Amino acid sequence: VAKLIIAGGTPLHGVVRVNGSKNGSLPLLAASLLVEGESVISNVPRIRDVETMRETLNSLGVACEWLDQSTIRVDASHIETTGAPYDLVRRMRASFYIAGPLLARCGEARVPLPGGCVIGQRPVDFHIAGFKALGAVVDERHGVVHARAERLRGTRIYLDPRLRSVGTTINVLMAATLAQGTTVIENAARDPDAVDCASFLAAAGASIEGIGTGTLIVRGVQRLQGCSYAASPDRMEAGTHLFAAAATGGDVLVEGARADDLDLVVSVLREAGAEVRRENGGLRCRMERRPRSFDLVTAPYPGFPTDLQPCAAVLAALADGRSVIEETIFEKRFNYVDELKRMGARIKLVDRTAIVTGTGRLSGAPVVGTDIRAAAALAIAALAAEGETEISGAEFLDRGYERFEEKLASLGADLRREGDSRARKAQLCFA
Ligand code: EPU
Repeated sequence: VAKLIIAGGTPLHGVVRVNGSKNGSLPLLAASLLVEGESVISNVPRIRDVETMRETLNSLGVACEWLDQSTIRVDASHIETTGAPYDLVRRMRASFYIAGPLLARCGEARVPLPGGCVIGQRPVDFHIAGFKALGAVVDERHGVVHARAERLRGTRIYLDPRLRSVGTTINVLMAATLAQGTTVIENAARDPDAVDCASFLAAAGASIEGIGTGTLIVRGVQRLQGCSYAASPDRMEAGTHLFAAAATGGDVLVEGARADDLDLVVSVLREAGAEVRRENGGLRCRMERRPRSFDLVTAPYPGFPTDLQPCAAVLAALADGRSVIEETIFEKRFNYVDELKRMGARIKLVDRTAIVTGTGRLSGAPVVGTDIRAAAALAIAALAAEGETEISGAEFLDRGYERFEEKLASLGADLRREGDSRARKAQLCFA
């Protein structure tokens, strides 16, 4: 198991550049399965989850290779099989994204259930309901979802407005592009990752109206053609660096961070007393005081992202006063709380709400990161804490952040990695 050893107490200073979005790139790679030809996707981060998706496409007989540090070419002229191996799908939830494209393009998809996850229940029932609404016959046997339809038929699909499921929007949208007739997706996710997927499909010849809004109207076409597309910057990585700057009392310019994608994150940082401004096509965050308390509720985009809730809690733990943080998306997103308490944080959990009484200082301790975002938040806590923190489960960071330690070290962080970064444990969680 990989361990990250961090000696805290140094404010972060400098410039860091964000990579392309993890949760944007994974659907783009899956959507390439719809294209009868070559897709070139740029600004893809070099992270474990992207490798897993690449291997998954390869396992279907589809060539998928790096052209340079951040560009992948997918050639889906031919798809050899519609069944994906369990060993790859179980590593991450996003593998289920291949189901929609395979079903639409090949008339069949056999994809193992991606399973549960440490951040809470991660069912795919909405995805399956969407496929069924599009006319597919779907059954589940021995843990494998088997969906088939000679040709999908357009229909109206109404998603839960409280959740606006990102994964369901993307999977159903991909499937609908090749369906016969018109599909209307109501309460679609509007986040930049879903927008990227829709824009890529449109560039490949799909007919989609309402991109970026909560209603997508998809008129099915016969085929999609090859195109090039660049993934958006990773707003979760950007947010992680912004919170790290604020929590350590530092001053960091996050190049490539898009202010428009991070509205509520910037509001929370400002409420906490940070100075955040647009600079050089990015966002600069400076904190010159002890953070103030703040309240937040996670919500689908453009609400405050559940993925950055743990990082925000670290800032709250240091703040002057009491903060209230409510989680509405994943019931176990608070898995990091007990670990943060080991570092001196005062947090009371009541159902899906954390009441955080700021203590002004945290102290280094051995802690365990149980998912990508929990591990990132603990790293921020460690950077702000007095003394040394040992974070087990650091391999989760490799799933979602390219060169995590290297980037922080360039900002002045004192940290090192120990143990096997390729530990299998990370593969057992699904993001
Ligand atoms: N849900 C269902 N049934 C479904 C699908 C979703 O009940 O069939 C529920 C979920 O349990 C959750 C809610 O709907 O309570 C919203 O889930 P959503 O489908 O939006 O999440 P996701 O697509 O599984 C993606 C990201 C997550 C991110 C969430 C929310 C990827 C690969 N994952 O998950 O990112 O937290 O959207 O924005 O895009 C991460 O990057 O670490 C990560 C977990």
